[in-house]
Amino acid sequence: MILCTFLLVTVFLLLSAATASAEEEKPSVHLLATGGTIAGKASSETATTGYEAGALRVQELLSALPEVSDYARVTGEEIASIDSKDMTEDIWLSLAGRANELAGEKDGLVVIHGTDTMEETAWFLQLTVSPSVPLVLTGAMRPATAVSADGPMNLLNAVRLAADPSAAGKGVLVMMNDTIFGAGNVTKGNTLSLDTFRSPDGPLGYMNDGKPFWCALPVRIPCGKAPFDVSHLSRLPKVYILYGNACADGVMVQAAVQAGAEGIVYAGCGNGSIHREDEKELAKAVLQGIPVVRSSHAGSGSVIAAENSYEKEHFIRGGSLNPQKARILLQLALTRTKDSREIQKMFETY
Ligand code: SIN
Repeated sequence: MILCTFLLVTVFLLLSAATASAEEEKPSVHLLATGGTIAGKASSETATTGYEAGALRVQELLSALPEVSDYARVTGEEIASIDSKDMTEDIWLSLAGRANELAGEKDGLVVIHGTDTMEETAWFLQLTVSPSVPLVLTGAMRPATAVSADGPMNLLNAVRLAADPSAAGKGVLVMMNDTIFGAGNVTKGNTLSLDTFRSPDGPLGYMNDGKPFWCALPVRIPCGKAPFDVSHLSRLPKVYILYGNACADGVMVQAAVQAGAEGIVYAGCGNGSIHREDEKELAKAVLQGIPVVRSSHAGSGSVIAAENSYEKEHFIRGGSLNPQKARILLQLALTRTKDSREIQKMFETY
């Protein structure tokens, strides 16, 4: 009898130790929640608009998705609970600071985010967070309370991706609708569809039954350390985006300068082309020490050298960054220099 009890206790202890060590071997993934539709609560299960974004806490999202613990030791915290259209520099700086702290402690990070400005936050984090561990952003198009909500599968896939060593060294990733995108060229391309994210140059891969399948390698990926250190900053330089259109009259450029713009991104047409009335005012802005980046609202393709006057006026070529991402790079560049040539080099590097 004593021998039997002893054997049973020993087997129990061995099994518990094996379970504990299997648990220890799982990668650690930390969630940084900022709100969004993925945490949204609507008044009915059929409502997909008119909901409160960011209403659910990260622990509520995790409790509804116990499956994540099959893949990782998941922890989480709230950085904010907002609709991402209301993103602020304070939240970005806190998020970057916390992600940098955790990059040394965890195997992977997931940022839960609204889809509206997800591409901007992904790009900001790529430029400011240590690339030492996978960092994946995810969200949802349907609120958590909706029939067939897309959030749970997106979150599960984001955790699986962040826990996967193959996601390291590919820059900040966006995982939405089973598709993996790079921060540099992902953009929200449809106002309502679940399949809203796209990259003009194609995605980096897909989540096939929970496993990453890579079909492209990102370019210009930071390695070693983050390109910009924002740990000492409490604000970012003021940069406005001006939308180029037919019949422009230069007034919006004057307004931006008067409002204290420290830089301007001009979302021009085609290859970053600028209406001559706006061009006159932009050239004056450059002479006043306000760098101007030529970008495009065409939706894809690079902005390269065009009219000779643009080069003479020291306008910066925005490359393949869309206007909202060019704005972020110009803000960060301005924390170092106002020299257009130096800023141009950064646009060619990142
Ligand atoms: C948001 O961006 O926070 C609301 C919209 C969404 O997440 O799809």
